Amino acid sequence: ASTGSPRHLLSIGDLSPNEFATLVRNAAKHKQAVKATQPAMSLSTSLSNKTVAMMFSKRSTRTRVSTEAAVTLMGGHPMFLGKDDIQLGVNESLYDTSVVISSMVQCMVARVGPHSDVAGLAQSSSVPVINALSDDYHPLQIIADFLTIHEAFPSQAAGVDLGLQGLKVAWVGDANNVLFDLATACVMMGVDISVATPKGYEIPEKMRNVINSASKGVGKPGKLNETNVPEEAIKDADILVTDTWVSMGQEEEAKRRMAAFAGYQITTELAKRGGAKEGWKFMHCLPRHPEEVSDEVFYSDRSLVFPEAENRLWAAVAALEAFVVNKGQI
Ligand code: CP
Ligand code: NVA
Repeated sequence: ASTGSPRHLLSIGDLSPNEFATLVRNAAKHKQAVKATQPAMSLSTSLSNKTVAMMFSKRSTRTRVSTEAAVTLMGGHPMFLGKDDIQLGVNESLYDTSVVISSMVQCMVARVGPHSDVAGLAQSSSVPVINALSDDYHPLQIIADFLTIHEAFPSQAAGVDLGLQGLKVAWVGDANNVLFDLATACVMMGVDISVATPKGYEIPEKMRNVINSASKGVGKPGKLNETNVPEEAIKDADILVTDTWVSMGQEEEAKRRMAAFAGYQITTELAKRGGAKEGWKFMHCLPRHPEEVSDEVFYSDRSLVFPEAENRLWAAVAALEAFVVNKGQI
C-alpha cells in the first residue's frame, strides 16, 4: 500500500535511545492532551481512511484493546484478524500473507510465537509492521512501562532524555520477552537493572548481547546485573518488576516451571529482606497470576500495574503516529 522500504518496530533495539525517549514523551503528551480534552488537532484524523491489520496468533487483552482504541482515536479502522480468521500458518505462507495484506492496509500489528514470524512478515511487507509480542520481544509494552516510570518518578524526569539515570529496576522471575526489551530500554535510559532468575532460567547469551549492545553511544548506560538470588537483585531497587512464570506457548512446562520458580514470588517480606528502597514501586505487564506476586503487593499503593496497563493505549498512539503517520521519522 506504500512505496519504498517501510520502517518496522520489532523490538526496542530497533530504536536509538533518543527515539525511544521521544516515543515515551510523545505518549505522555498525547495522554495529557486527550485527558484535558485538548487532543492535538491532527490526532483524530491522523489515520483517517487508513486500516491497521491486527494479526494475532495468541490471546490478548491489553494489546488488542489498546491498539484498537488507539486506531479509533486516530480516526482509522482497526481490523482484528485472529488465528482462526485468516489463512496464515494453516493454509498460506508468511510471505504470501504479508504481500497480500500489506497491499491493502497501511500497517500490520502482529502477535506471534517465534520472533522469526513477525520478522518474516516485516521482510515481505510494503507497510510498517509493529510487533505486538513475540517469543523474544514486546516493544509496545516497554514504551508504556517507561511512560509509567516517567510518571512515577517525576522529580527525576527533567532533562533532554527521560532523566531517569540512577534509578534501579529489579526483575525477579523468568527471563522472557518482556524482560529482554525492558532491559534494553533500561540500558539505553541509564537505568540499572538487576535480574534474578532461578538456575537454568537465565537470560540466553544471544539476548544478553542484544541488551548490552544497547549501551552503544550512550553516555551513561544502565548496567545489567544477573543473579540467582532475588534478595541480591532487590537490594536498593526503586522498582520491582515481574511477569508470569509461564508465558504463552510454554503451557506444557508449567509444572516444572512452578517448581523451579518457588521462592521467587514478590512479597512485602521479600522486598524488606532484600532491602528495596523505602519508596519502592511494583510493576507487571499483566496478565498476572498469583504465584509471581502476592495480592498484598499487587493491590497495594506501591503497585503501578493499572496505570501501566492504561499507558498501553498511549504507547500505541505514539507508535502508530511514529511508524504509520510519520513513516518511521521519530
Ligand atoms: N501486557 C500485555 O501484552 O497483555 P495482553 O497479553 O493482554 O495483550
Ligand atoms: N511473557 C508473557 C507476556 C504476556 C503479555 C507471554 O509471553 O505470555
